[in-house]
Amino acid sequence: MAASIVEHGEDAFRKLFKFYKRRKPPPDFSDVIDFSKGLRNEKVFNTELSPTAVSENDARLAGLQPVQEWKAFGLEGYPGFIFISNPFLPGTQQHWVKRCLKVYPRKPNVCNLDMHMSASETERIWESSIQLMRSKISGKREPKTLLEKLRWVTLGYHYNWDTKTYSAEQHTPFPADLRALSKHVAAACGFPAFTAEAGILNYYRSDSSLGIHVDESELDHTRPLLSFSFGLSAVFLLGGAKREDPGTAMFMHSGDIMVMSGPSRLLYHAVPRIVDASPGAPLPPPLQRGPDRDPPTDSLAQRVNEEDWAACTRYIQASRINMTVRQVLGPGQAFPSATQRRAESAGGETYHEVESEGDEDPDPKKRRNVSDSSVKS
Ligand code: OGA
Ligand code: MN
Repeated sequence: MAASIVEHGEDAFRKLFKFYKRRKPPPDFSDVIDFSKGLRNEKVFNTELSPTAVSENDARLAGLQPVQEWKAFGLEGYPGFIFISNPFLPGTQQHWVKRCLKVYPRKPNVCNLDMHMSASETERIWESSIQLMRSKISGKREPKTLLEKLRWVTLGYHYNWDTKTYSAEQHTPFPADLRALSKHVAAACGFPAFTAEAGILNYYRSDSSLGIHVDESELDHTRPLLSFSFGLSAVFLLGGAKREDPGTAMFMHSGDIMVMSGPSRLLYHAVPRIVDASPGAPLPPPLQRGPDRDPPTDSLAQRVNEEDWAACTRYIQASRINMTVRQVLGPGQAFPSATQRRAESAGGETYHEVESEGDEDPDPKKRRNVSDSSVKS
């Protein structure tokens, strides 16, 4: 049972990670906190948000329910950690799924495929994947689509996986819709001055995981880290300030939002497992088509057309997308100069990248220093 693993001890967190990652036999999920079930676990409590910080209209335009309707929870022992159980309006999650698949991977944003491919090829990730999906004969082994090979996209200040830093030089405009969504969520959680400056989007297939890490490259740790989940559910592990501290397992379902702030901002965490849907299972209800009326014309979350949604559905039935949004610089803060940067060593030993069993080089360190041979079509 998981309880015996969660005891204090040298490698409690790693043990927990391995426990939930295991395929055969599959683990017992009965200790995984499920916030969609409310206060069923004694460590879970209701958290008050700031409903007046976001107008009902602003929330609606971003595809969110009014803040007073949101179900927000805290977790005993993790001050500053806030879990919001799917606050999206029916039908609006589709907008974010489409943006993550069709639009955000495009230039000027950066993605893992850029390391192996020319800009003209990665410009057409969506188009070429749709084409290949259409020509696939079911049951036959076919080459993977580019969407199936997509692991991460960075936005705004582009995270450098090698140096584990952000810099003034590697910056492109942050998407306005995601910036607005993030602003509202942060404001509702008590951070009205939050500005979305960097995004890491993670794309998980059903056998993917994300290793144990801390997000500490941002220069201002007083600003929260926001995390949005779509598609398949995942087991998320929240640990302590030290890598070996014990942790707590929780499900993240489609539409759930997690906010790590205050003392929880720099806690170790990981995603050991994606919870696979049974073959042919319908999409989780929050991802299904919403009411048949179009959202207001000024809404950020515009209705996704049938054709695009059909392609998104095929992808998201077997995948999870996670958008993490960060503020990098505090007010008046600037990046260290290149000289200062050279003088400092490049970060700790933590790595941070979705890894999948099917990836050709499963060693994340090697995969990051990509060579042409590691992804072939
Ligand atoms: C991250 C992260 C967790 C998730 O991108 O830093 O921790 O739920 N993501 O995918
Ligand atoms: Mn993280």
